[in-house]
Amino acid sequence: MKISRVLSGAFALALCASQSALATTIGFSQVGSESGWRTSFSESVKAEAEKRGIELKFSDAQQKQENQIKAVRSFIAQGVDAIMIAPVVETGWKPVLREAKRARIPVVILDRNVDVKNQSLFLTRIASDFVEEGRRAAQWLMDETEGNCKILELQGTVGATAAIDRMKGFNEVIAKYPNSEIVRSQTGEFTRTKGKEVMEAMLKAENSGKGICALWSHNDEMALGAIQAIKEAGLKPGEDMLVVSVDGVPDYFKAMADGDANATVELNPHLGAPAFDVIEAYLKGDRKVEKLITTTGDLFTQETAAEEYAKRAGN
Ligand code: AHR
Repeated sequence: MKISRVLSGAFALALCASQSALATTIGFSQVGSESGWRTSFSESVKAEAEKRGIELKFSDAQQKQENQIKAVRSFIAQGVDAIMIAPVVETGWKPVLREAKRARIPVVILDRNVDVKNQSLFLTRIASDFVEEGRRAAQWLMDETEGNCKILELQGTVGATAAIDRMKGFNEVIAKYPNSEIVRSQTGEFTRTKGKEVMEAMLKAENSGKGICALWSHNDEMALGAIQAIKEAGLKPGEDMLVVSVDGVPDYFKAMADGDANATVELNPHLGAPAFDVIEAYLKGDRKVEKLITTTGDLFTQETAAEEYAKRAGN
């Protein structure tokens, strides 16, 4: 074998070794894949990691906190450079966050929150203002119905920030309108299947929805399931019963363009880039990190739905 070939092989090996030694490794514990929004969020994190040459260890918790805790412990054992957690629920995080802190691994919280007194257990949280989303949805509905509305509510996962805060913001606005009230409220766990199932039961209990003016759903996915249930109950969603929600996924824009849904507050799924910016800066020694970085989204209605659907679905 020629000496030059041996040398170039050795050089390539050394280069690979030095590159992998330099690559940042980040563990990401994701809630699951319960909604179209969540899937876009996961895909965008993976694409951003690839673009930046970050080695991403991705773990799907299938909506179970115990799976998330296991994943985080495994990231710690593997000695990753940083950990990102999109928590299923708010409580129960203290022990594992302390373990990460003891191992000197910075943790970034994405989307939903963690309920811990000691805020030094994580570096920052990057999320939307869920309370404001609830307020916006409610205000749109109150304007549309001149404050006269009997509402059915589909809640998200019990104990999840997105459910707790959206409910809070929505109720805060509704409280100002004496002729409006939530007559039934139940969790649909943020999924389409459960949204349909729960809506069927609520419609049955409410005389097939007669007298109900609107459905308020904590996410588009449940709303899409509920729209099916409203149709099967012989009503026209979007007309006989208004539908307002949060997320802004392509399927929901399609439903609005078709006249089956009325409004949604957009939730930005692109949390990977700001998270990696913070982590990369921190690992380079920048310790000035904001404790909360918020993203915002507009409220969309049927008026621009077809146009927005075309943009989002890549049509
Ligand atoms: O935590 C954000 C929520 O979680 C989104 O609104 C929903 O679609 C997802 O499941």
